[in-house]
Amino acid sequence: MMQSDALMNKKIQIIPVAETTPTLDKELRDWFRDQFGRVAYRWAEPDYYGILSVDEQLAGRLAVFDRQISAGGVIVKVGGIGGVATKPQFRHQGIASALLSRAAEFMKNDLGAEFGFLLCRPEVSPVYAKLGWTRVDGPTTFSQPSGIETYPYYTMILRLTGREWPPGPIDMMGLPW
Ligand SMILES: CC(C)(COP(=O)(O)OP(=O)(O)OC[C@H]1O[C@@H](n2cnc3c(N)ncnc32)[C@H](O)[C@@H]1OP(=O)(O)O)[C@@H](O)C(=O)NCCC(=O)NCCS
Repeated sequence: MMQSDALMNKKIQIIPVAETTPTLDKELRDWFRDQFGRVAYRWAEPDYYGILSVDEQLAGRLAVFDRQISAGGVIVKVGGIGGVATKPQFRHQGIASALLSRAAEFMKNDLGAEFGFLLCRPEVSPVYAKLGWTRVDGPTTFSQPSGIETYPYYTMILRLTGREWPPGPIDMMGLPW
């Protein structure tokens, strides 16, 4: 019989990458590589991990980036989100949503970010849209070892303060996440 949500012991933690144990760090990096390794980009190193465990078992993860980027020629402080993943057996139970909500609180209150910012493929954009993230036009560019590249899919933002997103081209000012 499936255990009900109320009986499951779910815990969310936001941990600075520098403070993760070697075992957890390896598990999160291996998971990222297995899930996203086919994507050809060089990605930025995260500043924080968000992890959700169910009965002490790792079920969901994401990474948070504390960054400044340029949008329409204006500097904005963003909390970046990347590497969102839920283990297959835990999907469609609200785990990514719970982690994203907790990360949004953290980015606003602890990082003082004005916006959440992420790149994603159109297929997964409903996960974020359901939580208030909206698509912006860009185009969005970032650095790669080969030079500047333009992201071909969706750029999404989450407003964390009263500020409107400055329209226009977006420069992530470094490696993407
Ligand atoms: C995308 C992913 C993180 C979603 O995790 P999850 O814990 O199952 O998400 P949630 O349960 O919080 O989903 C909330 C809502 O988002 C939508 N959603 C969830 N997974 C989706 C998917 N793969 N595609 C489109 N919409 C999806 C659904 O509307 C869902 O609500 P529902 O379950 O009531 O239908 C998970 O499927 C995953 O790890 N996929 C592989 C990695 C990946 O593609 N990550 C995204 C990188 S940008």
